[in-house]
Amino acid sequence: MANYTIAVLPGDGIGPEVIKQAVETLKVVSQQSGHDFTLNYGLIGGAAIEAEGVALSEFTLDVCRKSNAVLLGSVGDPRYDKPENNVRPEDGLLAIRKHLGLFANIRPVKVYDELVNNTRFKPEAIRSADFVFVRELTGGVYFGKPKRRWQTTRGRRAIDSMVYSEQEIQRIVRVGFELARKRKGRLISVDKANVLMSSRLWRQVAEETAVDYPDVALEHLLVDACAMKLILDPGYFDVVVTENMFGDILTDEASVLAGSLGMLPSASLAGVPDNSKTTFGLYEPVHGSAPTIAGKDIANPIAALLTLAMMLRHSLQLEKEASSIEKAVQAVLSKGYRTSDIMDGGCDEIGTSRMGELVRSELV
Ligand code: IPM
Ligand code: MN
Repeated sequence: MANYTIAVLPGDGIGPEVIKQAVETLKVVSQQSGHDFTLNYGLIGGAAIEAEGVALSEFTLDVCRKSNAVLLGSVGDPRYDKPENNVRPEDGLLAIRKHLGLFANIRPVKVYDELVNNTRFKPEAIRSADFVFVRELTGGVYFGKPKRRWQTTRGRRAIDSMVYSEQEIQRIVRVGFELARKRKGRLISVDKANVLMSSRLWRQVAEETAVDYPDVALEHLLVDACAMKLILDPGYFDVVVTENMFGDILTDEASVLAGSLGMLPSASLAGVPDNSKTTFGLYEPVHGSAPTIAGKDIANPIAALLTLAMMLRHSLQLEKEASSIEKAVQAVLSKGYRTSDIMDGGCDEIGTSRMGELVRSELV
């Protein structure tokens, strides 16, 4: 039996309540598997600004560095939203990604049969959707320099820079190839090579990397065409790899297919996921802090529970425990229980903690 150390950063808004469900679930996993999980808590985002004056403190970073994995709720607080604000909760998220070298953001999008009628799409159009986004997370326009704002005699100006090195492109594209190899063998690399220099390098490096993966079919798609194709033909996709901001935008779009942002987990990894060894990572639901519903026990904890499953799989090598959580979620959905975001006629509407309890009761 092993002992694992997990950093838990509940964050803002609905973060603490969905993370509470994940933590309760981890306790049951511990009882059933005999593994021990030591949980060390830290602050991030608005909660950290409030208590520590910064969105990510050295203390929190240290807690993360001493762990096998990081479990994060959500970050964001409308009290700090004004453009003139100097400290922002979101800076905590960007800083933790950069400091921990979490360059590979994995966002699986799966449409549950039970929820196909819940979306704005025709059920037959989305039923077969099951793909994974691999978003580059520590480069591109989010971090590129120069990045500043200044006053000129003719008014204010601001600049952000989309910068990528060959090495940064290659390591993320490899993650895409590795995942595609274990799935249907199809990798779509998304760029804007008809306009952007950084995208032309991206495309070239993707082509060069493909030589090492003769078993994977590589295809390139322009980001605008990809945005359209995701809606028109989501069953087309298997693994998609793209740069930071394109990935940010496209994964929000893709999430609509799953019926609710409350269904989607994510992993941000510091290496290539590998079934035979652990990869350090930070795990967070794709949804934000949803301040308007925080503290009401109505948020959907499923994304957080599926996120926990990803953590068990990728950072702790506990595949059996991971798939047990995924099967439990599936079982609760097929019994007709729904939180309000995925509610459908004829189903039972339940709250955050009840959903957590029901999933735990299905764990074997
Ligand atoms: C996400 C979020 C973040 C991002 C924000 C909160 C900084 O939208 O994880 O997708 O843009 O990366
Ligand atoms: Mn986003």
